[in-house]
Amino acid sequence: MIRLEGIGKAFHVGEHVVHALADIDEVIREGEHVSIMGPSGSGKSTLLNVIGCLTDPTSGRMSLDDRDVSGLDSDALAHIRQDLIGFVFQSYQLISRLDALGNVELPMVFAGIPRSERTERASELLRLVGLEDRGHHRPSELSGGQQQRVAIARAMVLNPRILLADEPTGNLDSDSGEQILQLLDDLNDKGLTIVVVTHDPAVARRSDRILVLRDGRIARRVSGSEATDLASLFGVTET
Ligand SMILES: Nc1ncnc2c1ncn2[C@@H]1O[C@H](COP(=O)(O)OP(=O)(O)O)[C@@H](O)[C@H]1O
Ligand SMILES: [Mg+2]
Repeated sequence: MIRLEGIGKAFHVGEHVVHALADIDEVIREGEHVSIMGPSGSGKSTLLNVIGCLTDPTSGRMSLDDRDVSGLDSDALAHIRQDLIGFVFQSYQLISRLDALGNVELPMVFAGIPRSERTERASELLRLVGLEDRGHHRPSELSGGQQQRVAIARAMVLNPRILLADEPTGNLDSDSGEQILQLLDDLNDKGLTIVVVTHDPAVARRSDRILVLRDGRIARRVSGSEATDLASLFGVTET
């Protein structure tokens, strides 16, 4: 469970203060599939990064699985991330000089898992995402959709409870995007909590709930099936 209480995030840029998030109160239950929508600059990525313990909020409290993570130092946060969180980004963020297996193994290297176990587990995860025959391909030798599947395998390799994805299909054609969304649905069916940032109603429609951000606040909460109605609120789509 993700519990956010009065979460705010201010960035200081020169002499200006940007309130990226303000007064965010929300509970995301175990096993929920939630989308975050909203115009460009409304705070979607910042909120995801706060939930993922990548960004420190400037106010409020957050707990993950009943662990209060407010005010923890960076080492403690790194442990929480390792235990609970998987992250997937629009741009995949794979290491170009490592092959698919090497990329999937990387979180296990940082977690101190022995090599033999790493290789076995990484192969298992590549099988899960349908890339068992691509283990020795580098990112440049894979399609965008395949790279994103490697990134999902990497995000899942330490058995997270929560998967966070920021525009995971933003760089993909619709067929590859559909495969990624199907994979996320399957993981959610197995109990994983998923939070996806998206501007695409077709992505948001697959979630249980949608949080609509505006100027750093939750402006609306709607069900996934209402995704299409929201599209008109945003006007032009962002990139
Ligand atoms: N590292 C940063 N430094 C300064 N301002 C930032 C930083 N990250 C985000 N912001 C600002 O915070 C607001 C929300 O940004 P972001 O969360 O990236 O929005 P979104 O993902 O919805 O497009 C924007 O006004 C953005 O310019
Ligand atoms: Mg963003």
